[in-house]
Amino acid sequence: MQLRVVPDQPWDVEADVLAIPIVGEPVFDGPLGELNRRTGGELAALAEFGELRAKPFTSSLAASGEVRAKRILTISVGPADHLDRETVLHFGAAAEHRLGGRHARSLAVWLTPLADAIDGGLSTVAELVARGVVEGSFDPKTLYRDRDDVATAPPVLDELVLVIPGGDTAAVQNAAERGVIIGEGANHARSLSNRSANDVSPEVLAEEARSVARDHDLWIDVIEPDRARELGMGMFLAVGKGSDNPPRMIVLRSGGEGERDALDRHLAIVGKGVCFDSGGISIKPADRMEEMKMDKIGACTVIAAIGTVARLAPGTPLLAVAPAVENMPGSHSTRPGDVVRALNGKWVDITNTDAEGRLILGDAMTYAERLGATHIVDVATLTGAVSRAFGHLITGAFGTPQAWYDEVMSAADRAAERYWQIPLLDDYVPDMDSWYGDIQNSGAAEGSLIKSGLFLREFRTVPWAHLDIGGSGYFRKTTAWAPRGATGVTHATLVELALAGAKA
Ligand code: BES
Ligand code: MN
Ligand code: ZN
Repeated sequence: MQLRVVPDQPWDVEADVLAIPIVGEPVFDGPLGELNRRTGGELAALAEFGELRAKPFTSSLAASGEVRAKRILTISVGPADHLDRETVLHFGAAAEHRLGGRHARSLAVWLTPLADAIDGGLSTVAELVARGVVEGSFDPKTLYRDRDDVATAPPVLDELVLVIPGGDTAAVQNAAERGVIIGEGANHARSLSNRSANDVSPEVLAEEARSVARDHDLWIDVIEPDRARELGMGMFLAVGKGSDNPPRMIVLRSGGEGERDALDRHLAIVGKGVCFDSGGISIKPADRMEEMKMDKIGACTVIAAIGTVARLAPGTPLLAVAPAVENMPGSHSTRPGDVVRALNGKWVDITNTDAEGRLILGDAMTYAERLGATHIVDVATLTGAVSRAFGHLITGAFGTPQAWYDEVMSAADRAAERYWQIPLLDDYVPDMDSWYGDIQNSGAAEGSLIKSGLFLREFRTVPWAHLDIGGSGYFRKTTAWAPRGATGVTHATLVELALAGAKA
């Protein structure tokens, strides 16, 4: 996709479609008045008809009259005082998503009305809109289709034109290019995540990681079961051993020793890679079990994120660890009540084989520390409880110490992603006590979301944050800005965090 930033009036830009944001209830003066005049009053008529309501992401595709673009796409973004970075991101995505299946090869987006309301002005808006358009073009239906089918599908976007009032075009262009790269990284995570379990085994995920390593010249190590046994990764192996597809601990590293030594911080991003979560012997009910092919989103996200960081700032020190397993029932599986030794030496009583994410992540975090990580963020579809509590629009987050959590959240703000902090309540620690070992992996259901964090906390010694994307990681229904399936959430936060750390 070609990207152009043009200082121009929106009516003078040539494109198949001109997207315009409608902020609040539209008032037809200034440039919006001129657009309305050139459409022969079409926009005002739409408003009168109730088509331009202030409800975010309602849209309409109008004839353009004397506007040079062939069609005008209005997208409402809600009232000005609610306009935030996430809305701007979703505006871009909604514009392109709305055009899915239409014959539009070039899309122009008028940025001016958004720039005043957003800190960082035009450059920030350009970055978020460009990223949104790329993310909005993501189509999971191209994944498993025969070639002829794909060949007859409507064309994808060739050109994105960002229309600004004037100013430093080069700076806006740079920002938009950054947005495109971040959007492509999110889409990479999404397309890997959406692939089914008969397609993506732990070894195939490792193969995908190897191709990221080749593309960006990263160091990679894939630990197979024999070596994991020698190392003592008892929790990781306990989850993987029930499947014929053996587990893989995937480790990617960017930045050379020199770059690492120049920093006193080594960030590790750790992602849960359960290629299929049947629950194991503590088997899940059949209803919605098919969604558990998504249980690898965390791993896909960290693999994509280290690639994105390498594209934006080659040589940035970053460690990505993705424990990949299949959680299956069988005569080789771990039984409820089995006690195993974790890599950090703790004895863990596996009271529920369906609480497997925390087991593989625990060993992965210990291993990240062995490789020198001084700060950790993990991403995981860890609990169903987080989606019951927060739904799909917000990610549950934990962290300690608070200063590190706050730093992760300021990266989240830059990334235009929403999180909500869950307390690590020490009072519940005794609920995880085990009669037979040091700790059990699953206690009573009450407070289970908090307890999942308390368990993970035992397997790291450095500052750590945990992002539970059990709800936000994938959509069950298509929205105005994203199709059903993996959302790519947390990718941008991880990228911002890694880049900020490299400057610190
Ligand atoms: N992968 C699931 C969590 C999940 C469920 C994510 C549904 C998204 C949608 C995880 O491994 C799991 O099974 N968690 C259990 C934990 C329980 C056994 C303590 C859960 O949330 O029920
Ligand atoms: Mn599970
Ligand atoms: Zn799981």
